[in-house]
Amino acid sequence: MSAPLPIEVLFDESTIRARVATLATEIAAAMPAETLVVAVLKGSFVFVADLIRALTEAGLDTEMDFITLASYGTATESSGKVRVVRDITEDVRGRSVLIIDDIFESGRTLAYARALLLERGAAEVRLCTLLDKPHKRVVDLDPDFTGFTVPDQFVVGYGLDYAHRYRGLPFIGVLQAETA
Ligand code: IMP
Ligand code: MG
Repeated sequence: MSAPLPIEVLFDESTIRARVATLATEIAAAMPAETLVVAVLKGSFVFVADLIRALTEAGLDTEMDFITLASYGTATESSGKVRVVRDITEDVRGRSVLIIDDIFESGRTLAYARALLLERGAAEVRLCTLLDKPHKRVVDLDPDFTGFTVPDQFVVGYGLDYAHRYRGLPFIGVLQAETA
């Protein structure tokens, strides 16, 4: 028998699926048809794969682009310095952009991405994260759309990692303290 994963389930697969579908209808009602979706890698790739299919189902068939951002820091705390590792290829001038990420914590990552795209001439930039962890906010910004609010604990699964592990879990859970 293999040892149980040191992870307590917060949101299981069917809970996530239902929330993603509702979130997509909220976004489809609020964003224009020509919205450019920009997914922040790596953490958002599982969420965005489900979200764009739910968006299409909800009537918003968007164009997609990807940006890889990194912030220097430890495995569980991001630092203030964000940098672009791989940039988008689309021209954002005059466009409505929806940035998608896994989690909004300090807010530094998406505050940086938002400022970058506005500086390049985007008409509007809105933010969507699957998770909101409001306890450690350092920027005066909140996500426009969010799936679930989570406690001030380190969560993994459904794209979120701890030191590059656990991204492939189909659920979101809290990594237990003794292994984190
Ligand atoms: P922020 O810049 O502090 O908002 O941090 C956002 C980034 O930190 C996310 O895109 C995640 O990659 C990472 N992060 C923050 N909290 C967690 C967590 O609980 N689990 C996994 N990654 C996290
Ligand atoms: Mg990450």
